[in-house]
Amino acid sequence: MTGSGDSVEKQVENLTAEDAREEFLELQTLLWAANREYHSSDAPSISDADYDTAKRRYLDLLDQFPELRKNATQAATVGAPIADGFTKVTHAVRMLSLGNAFEDEDVQNFDTSIRKYLGLDREAALSYTAEPKIDGLSLSLRYENGELVQAATRGDGETGENVTANARTIQALPHRLTGAPAILEVRGEVYMSHPDFEALNARILAKHQADPNPNKKEPKLFANPRNAAAGSLRQLDSRITAERPLRFFAYAWGELSEPLAETQWGAIERLAALGFETNPLTAQCSSPADLLAHYRQIEEQRASLDYDIDGVVYKVDDLSLQERLGFRSTTPRWAIAHKFPAELAWTRLEAIDIQVGRTGALSPVARLQPVTVGGVVVSNATLHNEDYIKGFDSKGEEIRGGKDIRVGDWVQVYRAGDVIPKVADVDLTKRPDDAVPFEFPTTCPECGSQAVREEGDAVRRCVGGIICPAQAVEKLKHFVSRKAFDIDGLGAKQIEMFYEDEHLPIRTPADIFTLQSRDSENLSKLEKRKGWGDQSASNLWAAIDEKRTIAFGRLLFALGIRHVGEVGARDLALHYGDWDVMAQAVDMARAAALAHRAADEAEEAERVAAAEHGRRARVKEARDRALAESNVPDAATAAWSDLTGVDGIGATLGLSLSDAFANSDERAAFDALRAHLTIVPPEAPQKDSPVAGKTVVFTGTLEKMTRAEAKARAEALGAKVSGSVSKKTDLLVAGPGAGSKAKKAADLGIETVDEDGWLELIAGA
Ligand code: IVH
Repeated sequence: MTGSGDSVEKQVENLTAEDAREEFLELQTLLWAANREYHSSDAPSISDADYDTAKRRYLDLLDQFPELRKNATQAATVGAPIADGFTKVTHAVRMLSLGNAFEDEDVQNFDTSIRKYLGLDREAALSYTAEPKIDGLSLSLRYENGELVQAATRGDGETGENVTANARTIQALPHRLTGAPAILEVRGEVYMSHPDFEALNARILAKHQADPNPNKKEPKLFANPRNAAAGSLRQLDSRITAERPLRFFAYAWGELSEPLAETQWGAIERLAALGFETNPLTAQCSSPADLLAHYRQIEEQRASLDYDIDGVVYKVDDLSLQERLGFRSTTPRWAIAHKFPAELAWTRLEAIDIQVGRTGALSPVARLQPVTVGGVVVSNATLHNEDYIKGFDSKGEEIRGGKDIRVGDWVQVYRAGDVIPKVADVDLTKRPDDAVPFEFPTTCPECGSQAVREEGDAVRRCVGGIICPAQAVEKLKHFVSRKAFDIDGLGAKQIEMFYEDEHLPIRTPADIFTLQSRDSENLSKLEKRKGWGDQSASNLWAAIDEKRTIAFGRLLFALGIRHVGEVGARDLALHYGDWDVMAQAVDMARAAALAHRAADEAEEAERVAAAEHGRRARVKEARDRALAESNVPDAATAAWSDLTGVDGIGATLGLSLSDAFANSDERAAFDALRAHLTIVPPEAPQKDSPVAGKTVVFTGTLEKMTRAEAKARAEALGAKVSGSVSKKTDLLVAGPGAGSKAKKAADLGIETVDEDGWLELIAGA
């Protein structure tokens, strides 16, 4: 065979990095050519045995020279099988998910909110497309000058897995385009048809039955076509993908060097003309009533289609309107998925287990006699919380006619799309005589601490904090998760293992960063352990080292503070810019945070007292009194208003952040962690825009856009939009009818422009 060059192969260990790289690239080309031939030609130029030898050598090289992975990223675009796992691809344009509609009313609201955002009245024409929502997995295909150069899964929307080699084996995809834009990213859904899915499972079963090995494992059949499609696309050996009959519907796009069309409809037609399969059930609709009619039509055809769909996607047809509407944090404003109704099934409730989450929440989980719900076998479902089991909702109103749920009951399981199945109803006629009401624990089943339920909270929580092993482990899992530290080779499974490890434990985030230095020459030496080769231990050290530098927002999100989600963390990072500045501000605000809590409590007490005495509640007085009694220093009040005034950060998040920073155990854990990290301050979005970093106030009537659109656009350009004029205001945009704000701005000498002036200022940004 060729590729590895010399007839006498050198031991991989004896190669120089330079030689290794050269050989690696050659092998990559060779393997890719073999892959291509394997499924497109009858006369492969290389035998299976040679292919296997080349591949083993390739993997050995990757093992010995992990830095080659970098070459694999580029070379994978020419299609190479990558060792353990896929390389990552950063999407040039984020791959988003869709908001959901369930009821007809939600569809009406979708139309209304779009009109409101764009400032269109009810009569103005506004058309949409409606098409089936395919139940597969999304794939982004990048073509450069007509050549397929990269295929990536959605991943977390920002980075996905590089599955180029596999995508190239999919017959249904055009590998070369003529007349396409020089850069074209086509997005759509990979799926498997029902007959192909059945045939695949039949083949797996037949192969298993034909295997004479008495110790053979159970055959792994796919549960549904979606899993089969995902399992086939995410194969490390692309020859397996090649054998799987995958299909693809194109419905969207990412980066483009020139627009495809002026409308969604036109763009899809263009993709079809370029050779992509597009869905024949797509329609243009001119009103919500039209959308709903098309939805009903697709729903009727659903059972006769030979692929799975789980709803209908509506998109604003006019692409210039799509652009104006833009995106919320993870979903477009211009599209929505109208889901088909959930599927139901009845089964026996065998047990109720309590799981303790990262914030200490005790969640009841139903263990069910396995039952098929809409094609998926379900054996666990959520019971939400204590009241839900008793038959009440969060407002104390009866649900299910007040029927409680007991172990042994015959219950209805409900599953909508990919959300966690839930127990929806109970059949009292089938209740066993000995069934007893469920007693919700008042102590934590994991650490024995009190589990308390605060006023107004539906959830009972373990107060153990990080002394509770369940909370600690869940927090650590969150810490290493994809949107947080995302450490290669350190996932949920490894966290559980290290948490229990007596020689080399990880109990706090900081422990991750001392792991290597603690891994001394005694029993604990990781590379000597079973399952941890020399190589995988050193890979882990490298992966951990890589994350010693981390974005501020990611770090804050990773800490797993209750209510601090990805978006909130990013907003806080943008606002404070620096960890220590934020920590100081949060400390400074503590007295005001506590006063705020006391005021909440006083308000609640006043409500209760007023209800008892049948008088009107004097809520504001109660609040003011409590605040006056707390005697909060001005500096604290200022820090608290600054914190909770950040757009999207309210008092709930503020209090939670304040509690976390004031808790000495947690604070010690943060400080210990911080010592190992270099924190990268956030970049304001679009730094080079003329309004980046400026504080802008809109007042008066805007005529060319709504206030919501103006605000969203300004924020996308990196401006802060504030509701009131102060010394910090940089620019006032004043439309007709501007009153006191314009006057105040004039008094303070703040620059003021009208709407046209504003549009001119941001034109081209
Ligand atoms: S459009 C920016 N159209 O649904 C919007 N998505 O819940 C891009 N999906 O991740 C998506 N069929 O995997 C769109 N006809 C369709 C779809 C579709 C299935 C999937 C897609 C997406 C998910 C969102």
